[in-house]
Amino acid sequence: MDNLQTYIEWFRHSSSYINAHRRKVFVLLLPGEAIAHPNFGNIVHDITLLHSLGVKLVLVQGARPQIDTALTSAGLEPRYHEGLRITDSETLRHVKQTVGSLSIDLEAQFSMGLVNSPMHGADIRTSRGNYITARPLGVLNGVDFSLTGVVRKVDAGAIREHLDERSIVLVSNLGYSPTGEVFNLSSEDVATEVAVALRADKLILFVPGSGVNNPAGERQSTLKPQAAEVLMKELRMTDLQTAEALRAAVAACRKQIQRCQLISYTRNGALLEELFTREGSGTLVSQERFEELRQATIDDVGGILELIKPLEEQGVLVRRSRELLEAEIDYFKVIERDGTIIACAAIYPLDETCGEIACIAIHREYQDTGRGEHLMQALEVEARRLGLSEVIVLTTQTAHWFRERGFLPMEVGELPVKKQQMYNYQRNSKAFRKAL
Ligand code: ARG
Repeated sequence: MDNLQTYIEWFRHSSSYINAHRRKVFVLLLPGEAIAHPNFGNIVHDITLLHSLGVKLVLVQGARPQIDTALTSAGLEPRYHEGLRITDSETLRHVKQTVGSLSIDLEAQFSMGLVNSPMHGADIRTSRGNYITARPLGVLNGVDFSLTGVVRKVDAGAIREHLDERSIVLVSNLGYSPTGEVFNLSSEDVATEVAVALRADKLILFVPGSGVNNPAGERQSTLKPQAAEVLMKELRMTDLQTAEALRAAVAACRKQIQRCQLISYTRNGALLEELFTREGSGTLVSQERFEELRQATIDDVGGILELIKPLEEQGVLVRRSRELLEAEIDYFKVIERDGTIIACAAIYPLDETCGEIACIAIHREYQDTGRGEHLMQALEVEARRLGLSEVIVLTTQTAHWFRERGFLPMEVGELPVKKQQMYNYQRNSKAFRKAL
């Protein structure tokens, strides 16, 4: 029962993201390591679910470990320079075989439709083509990369046509040149270039861990490209796979892909958690601000009402009608996190010198995270801007919180006259003041 309730709650909460993702274009990088992992079956199911929800999907497949294995069993030594394979013609023969066979297996996985499996009734159509034009990488620092290439052009128009017909487009790490040659490419580069050419809404990169960790081992939930580059240098030493994915994310981000997300391929459900919750499960690399504290506008009224409702019901806050809130919205500041109002607070000027701080509310998932403080600082800045020299607050249940932040108790009789007249003796709030 408990489980069912959690499931229902979760499903409800995901609805805003279901709407946000519909008809959007996501490019997913599936590195060879991910395809070989036991969790890959679950990833295929979750990708199928995304498709059913109307997301337009391009899957870019890698094959690094598979190619290494093929080379080794043929008695050849895999050769790399700075993380990139050197592809001579003998190597390319094995690359083509391996990628070909992997592509067929991948298509087979998306064609399954067994009764009792999550794929039942999904009816996925996949499409492939000569979408990637490549050119040789050439000689770099004296190293001849031979048949290793880079992306020269992506046929975005052709890919879009297939996406519009509801196909899942599959792209491998092989590209073709106008002279009919085949080049071996880095799948990370292909994913970035495809995302950029399609002006995709997201680039999703599968990595072994839960996104990117800082040196202390903590997951970085969001990263700006600048910060990501710093972490990338350290990662190069310890986890080349994640470092490469991060490099691709930063490159895509700099070329206007708004959200690049690194997600675990080893943990069951990590993809869905990342896409359908606000906090995600991996690392979001983005230029845009995921969270911001700002002046409230009339459009925030609905969000604020929802936020303060539980607190009004508990009697922590006095009730405010929608009309009142609309009239007083200019006194409010809010913290918006990915489209949701997670905190608010207001400052009402009472007379020339004194303002009242009111309606501080923090969403229950974000309590004790310093956001209350952050809002309070913003209100004090606003109070000074208004030329006030003192702020007061009336509270029934959070006196200690204000005491800890420099507020001093005061008598109701010391309140500005306007406030005294409105004082609700039944509520019996305590009054506090703070000089600015
Ligand atoms: N579900 C949202 C999205 O897919 C937000 C994800 C946030 N992820 C994160 N690692 N902070 O865009």
